[in-house]
Amino acid sequence: MTNEHKKDVDHISGVETTGHEWDGLKELNNPLPRWWVWVWLVSIIWSIWYFVVYPAWPVPGGATEGTSGYSQYKELSESQNEIHQRQAVYLGKFEQASFKEVLDDPELYAFAVAGGRAAFKDNCAMCHGTGAEGGFGYPNLNDDDWLWGGKIDDIHTTLQYGIRAGNDDTRVSQMPAFGKDGLLNKEEINEVVEYVLALSKGEAQASMPGYTVFQENCAACHGEKGTGGREVGAPNLTDSIWLYGGTKEAVYETVYNAHAGVMPAWGERLDKNTIRQLAIYVHELGGGEEDTPVAEVAVEDVVPVLNVIEVEETPEGGVIEDVEQPLPVETDRVIVEEEIETPQPLIPEDILNPAGDETPAAHLPEAPAAE
Ligand code: HEC
Ligand code: HEC
Repeated sequence: MTNEHKKDVDHISGVETTGHEWDGLKELNNPLPRWWVWVWLVSIIWSIWYFVVYPAWPVPGGATEGTSGYSQYKELSESQNEIHQRQAVYLGKFEQASFKEVLDDPELYAFAVAGGRAAFKDNCAMCHGTGAEGGFGYPNLNDDDWLWGGKIDDIHTTLQYGIRAGNDDTRVSQMPAFGKDGLLNKEEINEVVEYVLALSKGEAQASMPGYTVFQENCAACHGEKGTGGREVGAPNLTDSIWLYGGTKEAVYETVYNAHAGVMPAWGERLDKNTIRQLAIYVHELGGGEEDTPVAEVAVEDVVPVLNVIEVEETPEGGVIEDVEQPLPVETDRVIVEEEIETPQPLIPEDILNPAGDETPAAHLPEAPAAE
């Protein structure tokens, strides 16, 4: 190899050039700035150190481990342990405490609500909405309007066993499909729908044609005044809060076909403490119904049993009894079977009875006679 160019020194700066030249501009061969060289050397040393100490190089099945044994999984589980340890202090107390004791202890209460809020996002928001605002068929849990009761114990039972969830302890009831199963004819349904709409506006009158239909067919569950019956999860019809819509069409549809909302039983899926936290959280959302017995929920620990709900009207109204076995009943009682066999021949009512001058044969079994 021949060295073709001699040392070329720039005559202005007196610095040797590299010999590279572009359009008359020559590159000076200045030394690198010292600070830059130091940073460069330090970063090389640092990267070698890092390489040795930390997991750095991908190998099959992970990465080189490094001498420190560091891993992000380990870091995560350590910080989780720390959280669990801090929680354990509360959890121990929470486990022992009754709902009342939790409500009376601001720290435990805050702990329960925080846990409940997190569990709600994970398990409940997909049906009830992230803000628990509900939707068609899914109740809003923020208001103080409860289908099955708003005391903490009621909510706890609802969560533990679910609603129509197919276990022995679940909350069960079934509104009859008055139209589909031929229990009422179209005219009666229209009348009772008008009556229900009037109830929701506070304009219901005993003189309305739907009044009698309502008292005979609906009051057993929804109450004489339509204010609902929590023992059977029958909504209050006087408050303009609708689970299935409050238009004439929607109410007609409900009375014709009936609905039966299903909520899973959480006792099978979540641990005991989480369910208790959720009960407290949901109770708080709904404004915290007091533990004092409300007239409507005088019968405390009844859960409608299996397929048969037996309902008894008392003079005060709304107090309902349940029994294990369907009993023969003489008066004033309505037995509603969960699965109602179509009691009518399949010939439409208006063909059988074109004049429409008689009420159809099929009412609820043993419905009380008209006043
Ligand atoms: C698969 C949908 C679904 C999920 C998930 C769900 N729910 Fe429900 N929930 C319902 C339905 C439907 C009803 C109404 C049942 C009825 O019509 O009686 C209901 C009713 C309730 C009620 C009774 C309200 C009342 O007025 O009495 C409470 C309380 C409740 N849910 C809380 C929860 C909590 C807490 C969770 C999460 C652990 C949850 N739900 C998850 C569907 C769901
Ligand atoms: C066996 C008890 C029972 C009887 C009898 C009954 N209902 Fe119901 N009703 C219920 C239950 C339970 C629900 C709630 C269903 C659900 O949550 O899925 C309901 C829901 C409703 C709703 C929907 C309310 C809303 O918020 O969307 C209307 C309207 C209604 N019933 C009207 C009537 C009328 C009118 C009658 C009489 C013709 C009647 N019900 C008879 C139990 C009953």
